[in-house]
Amino acid sequence: MKILIINGPNLNLLGKREPGIYGSSTFEDYLEKLREAYPDVVINYFQSNLEGGIVDTLHEAGYPGTIQPEREGEERPDGIILNAGAYTHTSVAIHDAIKAIPVPVIEVHISNVHQREDFRHHSFISPAAAGIIIGFGLESYRLAIDSFINRLK
Ligand code: DQA
Repeated sequence: MKILIINGPNLNLLGKREPGIYGSSTFEDYLEKLREAYPDVVINYFQSNLEGGIVDTLHEAGYPGTIQPEREGEERPDGIILNAGAYTHTSVAIHDAIKAIPVPVIEVHISNVHQREDFRHHSFISPAAAGIIIGFGLESYRLAIDSFINRLK
């Protein structure tokens, strides 16, 4: 099984950024643990602070070769785990990109956005997502992997 994790803006600063909310582990350290825990799953990772970078990556995952012609003919991932960061609350373009591709996308959040500011309570991603996992810290990503594994059994 092949899974693609996409992290949006400011998530490159995990470990340094507001550790009281997001924890003190870097995403790279957590990713290493995830890969060890799921040796049979290919876990690819992409992070961008740019909305267009996330849209391009969703297109490429859904239709390999669309953005990077040299990837034409590659297999699609079986699932995408997306933490769109702040774009969750603003991005119609990411919503549309999820709807445009034939790969299920699970929306994840590290923090429980519903316990936080009102502007974090609305998600443009949720209506397009196959499922939503919120508030389990970095374990939100593992729960999403488990969900794809169980779905594909
Ligand atoms: C976040 C929650 C968002 O509101 C915030 O903008 C982030 C991270 C989370 O994982 O808890 O950057 O998506």
